Amino acid sequence: MNLKLEHPVALVPTMGALHAGHQSLIKIAKELAKNVVVSIFVNPLQFENTNDFSNYPKSLDADTKLAQEVGATFVWIPTFEEIYPNEPTIISAGEIGNLFEGVHRFGHFDGVLTVVKRLFDLTNPEFAVFGEKDFQQLFLIKDMVEKLGLPIKIISAPTIRDSSGLAMSSRNIRLSASDRESAIGIYRALEAANSAPNIEAARVKLVNGIGAIPNFMPDYAELIDENTFEVAKPDTANVRAIVAGWINGVRLIDNMVMTKLGVSK
Ligand code: PAF
Repeated sequence: MNLKLEHPVALVPTMGALHAGHQSLIKIAKELAKNVVVSIFVNPLQFENTNDFSNYPKSLDADTKLAQEVGATFVWIPTFEEIYPNEPTIISAGEIGNLFEGVHRFGHFDGVLTVVKRLFDLTNPEFAVFGEKDFQQLFLIKDMVEKLGLPIKIISAPTIRDSSGLAMSSRNIRLSASDRESAIGIYRALEAANSAPNIEAARVKLVNGIGAIPNFMPDYAELIDENTFEVAKPDTANVRAIVAGWINGVRLIDNMVMTKLGVSK
């Protein structure tokens, strides 16, 4: 059953534990449509790690306030049965879904696309807003919308960082003070890569910077062509650094466009 919503609708899909990053998405949504739906659903299909799923932070009352404060007209907290009344039709994220995040979180992007498609089916939004922090996710959602010919405009929103540079994430509240200090190293490594004169030097700065972070167990740290997810070569035009890994059981992910690298900018 579809929700009865006044259109146009801008949808901001979330898994809750909202923070300033989510609020920035809601503000962007509010500029696009009067009716802003914020969904809060921790989607089991996209967690390959049961601890990560069961430890995922939950704060529904605070979430509702934070969302309404910046213009959400409907905070939608669906049940599992509402999202998946039947065995879900799994949407494959294809080859790019098996790279980087997909290597370390097997099936993750199939789970993301499956839930996002269900959220789209149930709300029929004209717009949907996603953060650039999960850059591979954003890429694959845009790709799905294009391939399925869905009449939805996907809007990407810049990563919001705290004053130290740490990218805002719901998982950050699980970081101790010293973990947080380590986590800032990810931003510093990205910035260092961005200060390098060429791809080779940038890769060295990124990998060394990431390798030097205390307690950080990286899954990957790479420079990619942001249009294809291929590893960047000296002649790649649009280069982005992507990083993910774990600090004391907390998964962190970040990325940064390399503004000084690449050709024909
Ligand atoms: O980015 C997220 O919070 C989730 O992956 C999303 C898009 C809400 C799907 O569950």
